[in-house]
Amino acid sequence: MADRRKLVVGNWKMNGMKAQLGEVEAIGTLAAAHPGVDVGLCLPATLIAAADAGKGGAFVGAQDCHMKDSGAHTGCLSAAMLAEAGATWTIVGHSERRQDQGESDADIAAKALAARAAGLKVILCVGESLDVRDAGDAEAVVSAQLLASLPDGAAGDWLAIAYEPIWAIGTGRIPTMDAVDAMHRALRDALAGRIGDAAQAVRILYGGSMNGDNAAELLAIADVDGGLVGGASLTAAKFAPIVQAAA
Ligand code: PGA
Repeated sequence: MADRRKLVVGNWKMNGMKAQLGEVEAIGTLAAAHPGVDVGLCLPATLIAAADAGKGGAFVGAQDCHMKDSGAHTGCLSAAMLAEAGATWTIVGHSERRQDQGESDADIAAKALAARAAGLKVILCVGESLDVRDAGDAEAVVSAQLLASLPDGAAGDWLAIAYEPIWAIGTGRIPTMDAVDAMHRALRDALAGRIGDAAQAVRILYGGSMNGDNAAELLAIADVDGGLVGGASLTAAKFAPIVQAAA
C-alpha cells in the first residue's frame, strides 16, 4: 500500500471573525506539534491573509474558487486571488455549494483545474444523499460523481478527495465503519480505473460529523487517509483529538 500521509483539514464554512484568529494560532501550534500529519484550515476568504501570519505548522486554505482567472463575476474570487492572500489549498465541490449554488460536476472539475493552475492544492468533495444511501446505490452513485468531477491530470501531489455523505454533515450521524470502508475502497478503485497506479497516492478523506470520539476508528480504516472536519474544527480544543488520532 502506498505510504500516504494523513491529511486533517478543518472547514470553517461561514464561521469565523477576527476574534477567532486565536483559534487559528492554537491550531497552528497543534499542527507544529504533529509534524507527521498534514493539518490545515479552510477559512472564510476574509480571514485567509490574517490567518496566514499566525498559521504555525498548519496550512491555510479556501473553501471554493471560481473557474475563471478574472472578469465580470461579481462577488467571486479567483484561485490566484486566494493564493495571493496566502491560501495553499482550496476545497471544491462541497455538497453545500453543489446544493446552494447549483454547481455541476463539470463546474467542479473546471474549478479544480483553475486552482491547480494558480498553484493551489485541491480537496474535491463527493457524497450521497440519504435517499441514495437507503436505496443501496451509494458506492455506484458516488463513484460516478467522482469520475464526473475529476479534473484531468488528477494526482496525489495536488489533489485529495473528500467523501462526505450529505446526511452525515453537521448531524452527528455517521455511516457504519464497514460502509465507510466499502466506499473508500470503491472510490480508490474508481480512481484506479481512470488514472491507474497513481490512484494509490491520492488521499481520500472522510467528512461528516467526524469528531474526537469517532476519529480514531475512522482513521484506522485502510483507505481513510484523513478527515475534512466542520463543526469540530472551530476550536483547537475540539480539533486536537482528531489531529492526535491521525498522528
Ligand atoms: P461537519 O462538516 O464535520 O460539521 O459534519 C463536515 C463538512 O461539511 O466538511
